[in-house]
Amino acid sequence: MSTAKLILEGQEYEFPVIVGSENEAGIDFASLRAKTKAIGFDPGYGNTGACQSAITYIDGDQGILRYRGYPIEQVAAKASFVETAYLLIYGQLPTQAELDKFQRELTYHTLIHEDMKKFFEGYPAKAHPMAILAAMAVSLSTYYPDSDEPDVVNLNIIRMMAKMKTIAAFSYKKSIGQPYVYPRNDLSYIGDFLHMMFAVPSESYQNSDVLERALNLLLILHADHEQNCSTSTVRMVGSSRASLFASIGAGICALWGPLHGGANQEVIEMLDMIQADGGNYRKYMDMAKDKNSNFRLMGFGHRVYKNFDPRAKILKQSADEVLNALGVSDPLLDIARNLEEIALKDDFFIQRKLYPNVDFYSGIIYRAMGIPTNMFTVLFALGRLPGWIGHWKEMHDDPSTRINRPRQIYTGATERQFVPLAER
Ligand code: SDX
Repeated sequence: MSTAKLILEGQEYEFPVIVGSENEAGIDFASLRAKTKAIGFDPGYGNTGACQSAITYIDGDQGILRYRGYPIEQVAAKASFVETAYLLIYGQLPTQAELDKFQRELTYHTLIHEDMKKFFEGYPAKAHPMAILAAMAVSLSTYYPDSDEPDVVNLNIIRMMAKMKTIAAFSYKKSIGQPYVYPRNDLSYIGDFLHMMFAVPSESYQNSDVLERALNLLLILHADHEQNCSTSTVRMVGSSRASLFASIGAGICALWGPLHGGANQEVIEMLDMIQADGGNYRKYMDMAKDKNSNFRLMGFGHRVYKNFDPRAKILKQSADEVLNALGVSDPLLDIARNLEEIALKDDFFIQRKLYPNVDFYSGIIYRAMGIPTNMFTVLFALGRLPGWIGHWKEMHDDPSTRINRPRQIYTGATERQFVPLAER
């Protein structure tokens, strides 16, 4: 094994270098503080590997994304979302028998306890569905106690996968004041979600193949992305041996941020704003380059991808296909295309390697499907759920897992004597 040498205050230290299956090198600093009394300092963890994982590989410079070794382009073109979820959680593509069993388990665990419906009644009509989703995910732990018993761990994984879409659809119905539509066992995972979202008791509802195919693709593309903010949050919370439901609830909260999964909602709001301002996208491009404007081109840039986000490439093509199939034309798509075209030729973006990310086109497709903007990040969470579960399981099953406890560099007051109130 190769090593890395560090010289600190004239003293030389040596650390092992671990190498992954894609030849990524990691300097193993686990003994750094014990040997040197110093710690590594990497705010935002952009250069820090928190774990070893066999789930997803990203090469940000080449724009490569693979789920358990399978290129995202192939998974997106050939797999169902349920197959992809199985692959991410259990590590292999399922046989037909394994897939049928998994699908059956997901189908027969979609109901939430009737008492959970009462939780929805307490939220204000305008409650953001992500707040409800996070609270409900954690609340599942009040019905399904945690256990280290492997069968119970797997049953709770099934329950989380099966019930999240019911909770998501119920939160949408709550937000528009319509009655909940219960899950149906005769529909596919995605067909059932669309039915719960869009069926109205007083009308007959026919699932749309176009919508099902579009949502299948969108959820697959969002299914995992290695140690992103929300997945790292799931691992952080799970490392204290908190339940799967509590860990997923924390991941939902992290995803909600506008710099992370909340960006898909921000992109549409940004495009709406540009359209309302006469479609003057060049004005907003200039603002994005002006540090003082505090304006960012939402849906652009990425901590890891310094090339095209491969998911954005697939979604850009799919946007055309879905809108054409639905007979929808959306001026926001034209604005998005114009923004992308000039950004990719602009030195500010080129120098900073800012390309469209997964959020840039996804919102336009959700919108064409009739998904309201405040549900976009909920859809991101539905897609990311198998990835979160896969990482939680990988960590939970690893006996070497320790509770995550980063250090800090203290910059506050040095020791001083307490001053009684009367003397201040
Ligand atoms: C997701 O991690 C993941 O994998 C996330 C994700 C997943 O699947 O889980 O891929 C999903 O979260 C995608 C990202 C969605 N967020 C957005 O689209 C929000 C807009 N993008 C940015 O805020 C930003 O690009 C981030 C948050 C995505 C990345 O931020 P970094 O890596 O911390 O980069 P940075 O903020 O340090 O920016 C570097 C430079 C800065 O300029 P300088 O200080 O060098 O002059 O680029 C500029 C930034 O000002 N910059 C942008 C910009 N993004 C970065 N300028 C204008 N518009 C932007 N969008």
